[in-house]
Amino acid sequence: METLIELSKKMPKTELHLHIEGTFEPEQMFAIAQRNQVALKYNTVDDLKAAYQFTNLQDFLDLYYQGMSVLLHEADFYDLTMAYLKKVRSENVVHVEIFFDPQGHLSRGVSFDVQIQGIYNALQDAEKKWGMTSKLIMSFLRHLSEESAFETLELAKPHLKWIDGVGLDSSEVGHPPKKFLRVFEACKNLGLKVTAHAGEEGPPEYVWQAIDQIGVDRIDHGNRALEDDKLIEAIKQRNLTLTVCPLSNLKLCVVNDMKDHPIRNMLTLGLNATVNSDDPAYFGGYMNDNYASLINGTRISKEELFQLAKNGITGSWMEDHHKEQHLKQLNILFK
Ligand code: ADE
Ligand code: ZN
Repeated sequence: METLIELSKKMPKTELHLHIEGTFEPEQMFAIAQRNQVALKYNTVDDLKAAYQFTNLQDFLDLYYQGMSVLLHEADFYDLTMAYLKKVRSENVVHVEIFFDPQGHLSRGVSFDVQIQGIYNALQDAEKKWGMTSKLIMSFLRHLSEESAFETLELAKPHLKWIDGVGLDSSEVGHPPKKFLRVFEACKNLGLKVTAHAGEEGPPEYVWQAIDQIGVDRIDHGNRALEDDKLIEAIKQRNLTLTVCPLSNLKLCVVNDMKDHPIRNMLTLGLNATVNSDDPAYFGGYMNDNYASLINGTRISKEELFQLAKNGITGSWMEDHHKEQHLKQLNILFK
């Protein structure tokens, strides 16, 4: 009989929570640093990998911003994105919705055009070559000001045909969603979808703000929503998808042990939980590893595995006919 691990590798998967800068593998980082004549703080790949020990989100973010600082040219953004797409294609990921952090590059003098052109070309090539579909989500850095977010939105305006949604990431605690209320309102008026990291480290109140004040279409993480029964009901009522990231949660100490991960509880409560990799180069695994960590760590059932994959398809922003096609395939596999 087929094991759940085998099944999880074969099933068509979507990735709805992925920071492209978080796919920067140390080997590629050193190669691009050398190509661009940029110095890294670490002498070797092994030294860098040894530094990937985090006790919280900020520990990780400090390294993440350092790592992305070697990205300077359109070819760098293309190569980074293409390496990720090739990797997940080999894992039967059929659709990706990726975040990029324009402010993390603008601050180093890398133009919005350079960033988005490189990323977009890779996404287009993946669709042409392999039929892998995608959406692009521009994320605002919440530790920066509302003014900076508005400036970024202005820079994005000539490229809106390539941008499907906006997100909110970086240091959560102390930077609640309501800080960006007016920016998100402007984004919605431009027809953009809206999502926000909420309840990763921040309190349930931040998730309330994301759903009630911002009016998000999706919640990234959402772990701490489980602390508030009324909030759970509100998320269900709005039929919102949660983009949950198991290995990220473990690496950033959002959970202490995979056996305590709340994703099965989320499903039991009727929440639309999905599985995603967040920053796979830093957290020890891509999509298949995230599923494997749940199968081995939480003992999810075949039904739960099916539900997670199904939620990933239904909660995505892909076209309806693509959803139907992937759901059909998934049903055949689990029959
Ligand atoms: N930026 C990249 N990964 C992130 C995460 N897990 N939370 C907040 N901001 C991020
Ligand atoms: Zn994230």
